[in-house]
Amino acid sequence: MRLKKVMAVGLAAAMALSMTACSSSTSSTEAATEAATEAASEDAATEAAEEAAETVAEAVEGKDPAEVKVGISIYQFADNFMTLYRNELQDYLVNELGLKAENISIMDGKNDQSEQMNQIRNFVTQGFDVMIINLVQASSEPDVTAICHEAGIPVVYINREPDAEREQAWVDEGIKATYVGADARQSGTFQGEEIAELEDKGDADGDGVVRYIMVQGDPENVDAQYRTEKSIEALTAAGVEVEELVKQRGDWDQTKGQEITANALSQFGDKLDVVFCNNDAMALGALQAIEAAGRTVNEDIYVVGVDALVEVVENIMNNKMTGTVFNDYFGQAHTAADKAMDFVNGKEVDNVYMVDYVKVTADNAAEILELIK
Ligand code: GAL
Repeated sequence: MRLKKVMAVGLAAAMALSMTACSSSTSSTEAATEAATEAASEDAATEAAEEAAETVAEAVEGKDPAEVKVGISIYQFADNFMTLYRNELQDYLVNELGLKAENISIMDGKNDQSEQMNQIRNFVTQGFDVMIINLVQASSEPDVTAICHEAGIPVVYINREPDAEREQAWVDEGIKATYVGADARQSGTFQGEEIAELEDKGDADGDGVVRYIMVQGDPENVDAQYRTEKSIEALTAAGVEVEELVKQRGDWDQTKGQEITANALSQFGDKLDVVFCNNDAMALGALQAIEAAGRTVNEDIYVVGVDALVEVVENIMNNKMTGTVFNDYFGQAHTAADKAMDFVNGKEVDNVYMVDYVKVTADNAAEILELIK
């Protein structure tokens, strides 16, 4: 934007100069030309002065938020958690940071990386100031970063974390990119601890072994990988003997969570002690299957998720689910928006920002509900 403006002023000044160079005699036509030339160079000078003042003001206060254009692409609008996140992001950009709603373009990646690539290329063509991208596939980050870097547009990645080496490469190569998220290891550990802290440590049938199923998100995603790994690690670290009955991908989806749990319940029956779900949407599906099978959560089976969707927190308060982990989309959305504006205003931005997760059990569910409702 600024580059374009400077060029326009430069062009006017050059025109004025060449016109002055031509006006050497005093004929009436020449006098008229001279007058026009003078007016033109005065205009150009005023414009240049205004531009300079604007540039100084920008350097001091930052760019007027009402002029900032942000391109956002979410991996999939159909995702419950990312819908809460997306709404918060938009609300914060407009109502707290003062951006104009019409300057924010939010696209649905439709869980299709090539579709999302087109959206990113369109953001470049339209001259956006900054992008906030929730990648469909974290492995596409090098391509996306290359496009943004070449176009001189900073990018804030959210929710799906790129590789650590890549995050370091942004620093080493002076690339304006950052990641804002939450450390998925922490959420997995919290899930495992919630089970380990139960009186029977998750051994609902009391046979000495905690038999569980793992309903995974999209396994390409580090959130799914770490939650799967760290939840069980925390449980075994507490001295619990475990046996995995099933591990299956449910792609963060409620219906898939329901199907996977229903199948496991019919195959393993009462042996199944704990249903670990990588997120709450799948945990809600698991609860449907558990109820349909006539089992009772917190009596003969346990279920935990991640995100703290309102419905899940209410279920925890009503003793229908065991626990979840608050995935703080307020903190993440606000940090992502703040960092995007820092980039626009030429401030220093680190390569990674992590927002803490919070354990949610019957003990604090009411408090968390207050926060999210
Ligand atoms: C996770 C969240 C899931 C899903 C996923 C999408 O952090 O827990 O519910 O939204 O992100 O990448």
